[in-house]
Amino acid sequence: MIKPNHRHVDAPDSALLVDGIDCLYTIDPAREGLGEIRDASVLMSEDGTVTWIGQASDAPSANTVIDGRGSIGLPGLVDPHTHAIWAGSRSDEFAQRLAGASYADILEEGGGILSTVAATRSASESHLQRTLADRLRRMVSRGVTCVEVKSGYGLDTVTEHRMLSVASANVNTEGPSQLVRTFLGAHAVPAEHRSNRDAYVRQVIEEQLPLCAPMAEFVDVYCDRGAFTLDESMAILTAGQRLGLRVRAHAEQVTHTGIAEAAANLGALALDHLERVDDAGIAAMARAGTIAVMLPGAQLYLRDSAPPTEAFREAGVPMAIGTDLNPGSSPVHDLWTAATLACLIQGFTIEEAIIGITRNAGRALGRPDCGILVPGGRADLALFDPPPGEPTDVSSLIQHMGTPDARCVIANGKRIR
Ligand code: NIG
Ligand code: FE
Repeated sequence: MIKPNHRHVDAPDSALLVDGIDCLYTIDPAREGLGEIRDASVLMSEDGTVTWIGQASDAPSANTVIDGRGSIGLPGLVDPHTHAIWAGSRSDEFAQRLAGASYADILEEGGGILSTVAATRSASESHLQRTLADRLRRMVSRGVTCVEVKSGYGLDTVTEHRMLSVASANVNTEGPSQLVRTFLGAHAVPAEHRSNRDAYVRQVIEEQLPLCAPMAEFVDVYCDRGAFTLDESMAILTAGQRLGLRVRAHAEQVTHTGIAEAAANLGALALDHLERVDDAGIAAMARAGTIAVMLPGAQLYLRDSAPPTEAFREAGVPMAIGTDLNPGSSPVHDLWTAATLACLIQGFTIEEAIIGITRNAGRALGRPDCGILVPGGRADLALFDPPPGEPTDVSSLIQHMGTPDARCVIANGKRIR
């Protein structure tokens, strides 16, 4: 049992008390395990800071009190990898894949990502805006308060820029408290450039990146068969880095390319997918402190094999979990489902899965203040009821797929659900 932290900032604007949470998991790195506190209360100020965490019996008074009895408390969850902006539908492709077609073959024939590109290019900005807001609202309903969103369905300068503008407009509305934008102009080679890939790589580096970099925090590439080669990917990542973007990549998913090792050596903060990473890639990630972002939704939908979770664990590479929400390889909206799948098909423990959708996901996004609850830190908190008849602990939330919506979600010290 971990002792509650009684550090108390006695501020007059300590406006909101979440009181009597049956079981609070702070995920505080300074505490053991998940930083569990039974019968806990959390005090927050209006400016979005946690001012006190401790035992309910010691809780100070506050202007507003939310009853946490019977609930499980966690820091707001962090989804570190989504493609939440798109238009169109790929349900037909799902049927093709059920009948045996492969993801890479569909892409090479001009479908897959490229069919979403066609629909996204012709969609209006307001349609993209509305559908993004709807998707974000669903994520918030499951307790997610920090979400990464990528471009990558434009694949031309105008549409890539439009996707990032759509993601910018959603900040500080009714969505999550944090939206982290990633430029993914190198998601696939668009149809009009298939006979001249070099010209497209040049366009990404010379046109798209300079225009889009001010609107993004990360540069990402999809380095794989049917997408970009190692050399093309490294040229794009290096160009993005020169413009001040942090590096990440869709790495070693369908084929092994060597991008994990090369991008880690470039200082990638996170690398994602990793089903086919080798020992050299894992060693480079360990040296660079790169976070491995696992995407079990894509693994399941593509009927793929698991990334080498045990080797990452042994090498001390921190692991995070994302939904990879997208209309093709991972139409998974719910981060809890992704966490359950990470346990079932990727060998995560329950504790690793919880850390993977909180603290390590925050670190993967360069947001070490997200996914943890500590005095003086961000006031992002979600309360969950256990499934009916189950104990108030995280094991029951992970074990039962399709956990109920969050009872209450607080982002930046304000109740948003
Ligand atoms: O993360 N692997 C490449 N990119 C996405 C898929 C996007 C799509 O299929 O539309 C992924 O799985
Ligand atoms: Fe992805």
